[in-house]
Amino acid sequence: MLDISEIRQIEFDVLVIGAGGAGLCAAITATKESKKVGLVCKSLLGKAHTVMAEGGMAASLGNVDKRDHWKIHFRDTVRGGKMLNVWRMAELHARHAADRVIELEQRGAVFDRTKEGLINQRNFGGHRYPRLAHVGDRTGLEMIRTLQDYGIHQGIDIHMECTALDILKDENGKIAGVVCMYRDTGEFIIFKTKSLILATGGGGKAWEITSNSWEYTGDGYAMAYEAGAELMDLEFNQFHPTGMVWPPSVRGILVTEGVRGEGGILKNSEGTRFMFDYIPEKFKNETADTEEEAARWLAGDKDARRPPELLTRDVVARAINAEVKAGRGSIHGGAYLDIATQRSAEDIKKKLPSMYHQFKVLAELDITKEPMEVGPTCHYFMGGIRVEADTTMSTVDGLFACGECAAGMHGANRLGGNSLSDLLVFGDLAGVGASNYAKQLGAVPKFNEEDAKKIIRNATSILNRDEGENPYLLHEELQNNMQNNVGIIRTDTELQKGIQNIENLKEKNKNVKANGSSQFNPGWHEALAMRNLLITSEAVARAAYMREESRGAHTRDDFPTESEEWCQYNIITKKGEDGNMQVIKEKRKEPNAELFRIANATLEDLEAEVAEERKSQL
Ligand code: FUM
Repeated sequence: MLDISEIRQIEFDVLVIGAGGAGLCAAITATKESKKVGLVCKSLLGKAHTVMAEGGMAASLGNVDKRDHWKIHFRDTVRGGKMLNVWRMAELHARHAADRVIELEQRGAVFDRTKEGLINQRNFGGHRYPRLAHVGDRTGLEMIRTLQDYGIHQGIDIHMECTALDILKDENGKIAGVVCMYRDTGEFIIFKTKSLILATGGGGKAWEITSNSWEYTGDGYAMAYEAGAELMDLEFNQFHPTGMVWPPSVRGILVTEGVRGEGGILKNSEGTRFMFDYIPEKFKNETADTEEEAARWLAGDKDARRPPELLTRDVVARAINAEVKAGRGSIHGGAYLDIATQRSAEDIKKKLPSMYHQFKVLAELDITKEPMEVGPTCHYFMGGIRVEADTTMSTVDGLFACGECAAGMHGANRLGGNSLSDLLVFGDLAGVGASNYAKQLGAVPKFNEEDAKKIIRNATSILNRDEGENPYLLHEELQNNMQNNVGIIRTDTELQKGIQNIENLKEKNKNVKANGSSQFNPGWHEALAMRNLLITSEAVARAAYMREESRGAHTRDDFPTESEEWCQYNIITKKGEDGNMQVIKEKRKEPNAELFRIANATLEDLEAEVAEERKSQL
């Protein structure tokens, strides 16, 4: 008989799951407001996908180009997101990013400097001005190191290598805790909590080619879904245009957009700089259309328009894909990314030290002399858990979400560099939101013991079967399916096939089996992750099937253009009463009139407005 009172239990005011940038920020803020704050991470502290945001964090500090302003950052963000962003989230982000970056500096982050000694900022795709505060090409790492260092002195109770299995609620549907398990000992533990913040990142591990490492199995989406929360716009999966393509052992590892930000150009096997052929109509008057103008931009001419390599990621990824399909790909099926002819070796080593090192060590290639081979890699989820913008609370009382696992901020496509600043802004808001919620609650709600038993039994049954499916093979099958049927370019037929394959895998997964004991058993953890990967993949595939248009990172070959009608809808996914996944097309709220005006203003008008505003403040 399983006796829940014999399972170790710890009580918190606020518990955070996930220790990337968002989770750490949320926990740090929560310690200012709440007494008992816990942080659970599946991996070792400091190992998070945050480090894969290498090129920088976007904020309108205006250190390199004084014309920058939150309104222009906001406009870039929603245009990059193809107007499907939650407007209020994009506003909060653009307004607060600069303050949060300065706060990070005050907490110890050592940024690269301008000649004047200010935080240096670089260009990135879709950003009108040099906006990315950076530390070479290791910005995410610096962020994690800073927050981790700062956070451990705040009295946060940290539980590492501890996997969250499922959420517990009380009889009124309020959050009451979470059942977790330590990877090394296999010990189960129940964390009781007044409020719970999910900061679990994305689910890139559902695809074969990805920049994500083993942790990113959609745990937050699946736990929230099982707890009754709504997911939103899961069809928008970002394929970063530049992942490594060779050798096979490193396929998918990120090549920072910072390479293009520093002047890198893309060429096909014929030596053609092909991005000039892929400039979307809407961005024509903001993009250089000749090599000569692009070169003037690189040389610092402020009147020159930006090179087409700095178009948004969705555009660049599709262009590489099209070149490969047309038979003009690089030798191993990507494109050539050349920084060697654009910058001196000294500059490259100074501004892109990790890329220099990564290619030297992993591909035996010197990027100061030769072009890199790159191709799209699954990098980021724009969709996720639906949250209220100002508090970050989901549709379940007491359940909060921030960072990649939350939906809304980035719409249909995220601009590079907006994720690190998103983590800072919404991590902080989540810490405040969850603490406020916990304070008004009084005692920790009492969790349902039967639910806790069920969660533990579901986990142990995987070990207790005599025979069953191999989780590694199931995962491989899923990755294959997502890569081929729910990939960068989608069609009705392939999506239907993809959904059918997921249904078959769900059946097989009911009988998944791991050998060995509960102690440090990677096979068991792989099997436990399969449920989360399958829920995530199903939500992605079903939403992708429903959205009959191409918008941002979601490209349908059978519906090749944006549709005005679809711009008015989000796709909401939730668990139905019958236990099946429900996918609903939901009308969006009317945007705030002022934000709508800013988003739709011409760049010239907005720049003039900002200049006028500044003059009047003098
Ligand atoms: O390319 C990069 O450095 C990634 C940045 C990001 O995803 O924001």
